Amino acid sequence: MKPVLLKNDIYWVGAVDYNLRNFHRYSRSPQGSTYNAYIVKDQKNVLFDTVDEEYCDELLKRISEIMDPAEIDYIVCNHMEKDHAGSIERIVEVCRPEKIFCSAMGEKSMKAQFNTEGWPIQVVKDGERLNIGKRNITFLETRMLHWPDSMVSYLEEDKVLFSNDAFGQNVATSSRFVDEYDSTLLSHAMKDYYYNIILPYSPLVLKTVERIGKLGLQFDIIAPDHGLIFRTQDDIKFLFDTYVEMATQPYKLRAVIAFESLWGATKKMAYAVGDGLQSVGVPFTIIDAQENHCSMVMNELADSSALILGSSTRNNMPLVNMLGVIANVKGLKPKNLVGAAFGSYGWSGESPKMINDELVAMGVEVVAEPVKAYFGPNEAELKACFELGQKVGLALKEKVNA
Ligand code: FEO
Repeated sequence: MKPVLLKNDIYWVGAVDYNLRNFHRYSRSPQGSTYNAYIVKDQKNVLFDTVDEEYCDELLKRISEIMDPAEIDYIVCNHMEKDHAGSIERIVEVCRPEKIFCSAMGEKSMKAQFNTEGWPIQVVKDGERLNIGKRNITFLETRMLHWPDSMVSYLEEDKVLFSNDAFGQNVATSSRFVDEYDSTLLSHAMKDYYYNIILPYSPLVLKTVERIGKLGLQFDIIAPDHGLIFRTQDDIKFLFDTYVEMATQPYKLRAVIAFESLWGATKKMAYAVGDGLQSVGVPFTIIDAQENHCSMVMNELADSSALILGSSTRNNMPLVNMLGVIANVKGLKPKNLVGAAFGSYGWSGESPKMINDELVAMGVEVVAEPVKAYFGPNEAELKACFELGQKVGLALKEKVNA
């Protein structure tokens, strides 16, 4: 793929990773991803971010189609996680930049990860401006969106925001722009990315959007480091609206049932819970935790506000994949959820109560007593599951209609 022109003298020079299926070791990205890097040609030529180490040759090849890499004067490192900074040692060696710009935390992270001896690192402060000739860059720190070192770079005259991880999506395609891609697939990818990476920092997302409004920043292009680039006003508006909605997490009329079953009894219970939800008009998804990665539950929570978890009991606790689901959800801190727990057992049966307690600990409003079944489930136990589904469904409807 050739470099892609974004605006006069502004190019995408990154790499597309079509086969990535495990994003950052914690989220599955069934559509692959990209590592976007950008070049701005001016009196000082600037490279914004690099790519995963595996794609360094591609990055250098694309830069070479625009200029000799040795002509790069400045490198801006908006974030030092390896998917953006993995190539930095080679790039510095080849380009011999005059300066490398990063945040204070970025410098700390850079020095901890790479041999930076002799590197011309220059720390920039939040709001600091840098003139590169006809253009000015403003650096804005976005701490914890999603790392302590994260920042974004705004190219003032061109109204281009290099937003790093913010506003990204795991999409691998030969298209580079949102307006060249299917809007439903894009929307799905944005939610998957946000719910598995950005969600815990939602209050900061809202503050950042508010800050952008106060600063009066205008955007012609929003260029993240993963996925597609936003370049129409409609798409940019859609992006901000979607981010505000994902950060606010309003109640949505849909439920997720996730279960893990040893011999099939808990699975039967999960489907009975689903019947209960359906009887009160609440659509739902059922996820078998043994067959799906734990990030699938988060993907579904992007469109759901009820979380119902069930597991058999083994060694006095839920099964290990369900424990993974619980740990993943807990760490990502979704808000505005109702829920309940269930599970079968053949021995001691602690699992439903333990799951129930975990749901409470993560702030889920538990609206039904946990249901447990001894082997079975027998008719009475299935009825209890059905009623659990009904209770959760009715509580959710009340929230949605409030
Ligand atoms: Fe895309 Fe935080 O790395």
